[in-house]
Amino acid sequence: MTSAGLTAQRGGPLRGRVRAPGDKSISHRALIFGALARGTTRIEGLLEGDDVKRTAAAMAAFGATVERLGVGSWRVEGQGGFSEPDDVIDCGNAGTGVRLIMGAAAGFPISATFTGDASLRGRPMNRVMKPLTEMGAVFACRTGGRLPLTLRGGNLTRIDYRLPEPSAQVKSAVLLAGLNAAGGAGVIEPEPTRDHTERMLRAFGAVVEVEDRDGARHINLAGGQTLTGTRIVVPGDPSSAAFPLVAALITPGSEVTVEGVLLNVLRTGLFTTLVEMGADLTISNLRDEGGEQVGDVTARHSAMRGVDVPPERAPSMIDEYPILAVAAAFAEGPTHMRGIGEMRVKESDRIRLMAQGLAACGIGVQEEAEGLIVVGAARANHPAAGGARVVTKGDHRIAMSHLVMGLAAEAPVSVDEPGMIATSFPGFVQMMRGLGGELA
Ligand code: S3P
Repeated sequence: MTSAGLTAQRGGPLRGRVRAPGDKSISHRALIFGALARGTTRIEGLLEGDDVKRTAAAMAAFGATVERLGVGSWRVEGQGGFSEPDDVIDCGNAGTGVRLIMGAAAGFPISATFTGDASLRGRPMNRVMKPLTEMGAVFACRTGGRLPLTLRGGNLTRIDYRLPEPSAQVKSAVLLAGLNAAGGAGVIEPEPTRDHTERMLRAFGAVVEVEDRDGARHINLAGGQTLTGTRIVVPGDPSSAAFPLVAALITPGSEVTVEGVLLNVLRTGLFTTLVEMGADLTISNLRDEGGEQVGDVTARHSAMRGVDVPPERAPSMIDEYPILAVAAAFAEGPTHMRGIGEMRVKESDRIRLMAQGLAACGIGVQEEAEGLIVVGAARANHPAAGGARVVTKGDHRIAMSHLVMGLAAEAPVSVDEPGMIATSFPGFVQMMRGLGGELA
């Protein structure tokens, strides 16, 4: 890899067993909950990506003792609350980091100023500021609800908030603020999103009620609950496991197993979709680890066909559409991904960048306001042309998706900013090389 970019090219089959890096969502939460709690939290399997390291530094800035004991092994000594940081909190590229920390910090009578990298400074924070303002927090931000922003917290009151968009980050911010709001907080989700916050609140000793009623999920948290430090084992990230698994599905002769993958049904929409497409995906060694279901997932090279991906599946695979689009490029017939408008406000406008990247690699693609159609191949396994240098706008998943495509395309595929991959998957290049992928 050079600073000039990274190139993937077609080689032999991909084979081997690997372990997925720790789940990013759970890693951020483990650090934040540990800092909010009283006592010691031990975390094993923490994702040591740039995003999560920013959250670790932020928790230290809010007064927790955060210590790395070994690879993936961390200790957080919480104070039972946040104290005022004496400098700006820089969350780097991490939407989850900044939004959840804003929610947690809002519960305390402190001021904090947040910023991030160019991508994060362009992302909407209104979705979090709106409910937190209703609860009593005060914000000053850039035009359009952008970072940097300053939050003044404390004296919050209960909200019962119906999520206008399916966002686990917004849900989590409201619940974390609710921990220190008079009367707590309620969140109503018309479309269920990942429930790691609810599960982890319980693991730290809080009572959270969840009820499906009137076609929505109702989550209720009583106020004034204290969290107690605990032990968290972080399962493997299905959003990262997706890359070596799809690489195996599209590369002839391949068989790859990713061990210890989180299989929470609110995260497995990609696997459901790939199986519908005809992918040979099998799960073995299904087990419960730290209150979450995990398993080993094996992918073998497969002849796939295009499918219609329903909009209601979007929350369970929102980060996986870029890599699904790559699988779809090698499938026979069109794949239509619907109801994915949220993709436009991720680390980049992922609908736009995938449409541009795939088109540059010779794949028929049609962009919609809230959807993406990948035309697919005339017959399954007909390789994409490739042969492009793809603009990623610093988006780690756009970069990894196109590199996976390059491993099976006729001509090499390059990406412009490979360094950003370390935000979520620091060992990606080594892992893919270890499986036989040609990346240089
Ligand atoms: C996340 C929720 C999702 C997802 C992000 C992680 C979380 O974002 O895209 O990578 O950990 O809660 P939204 O809440 O914006 O949908």
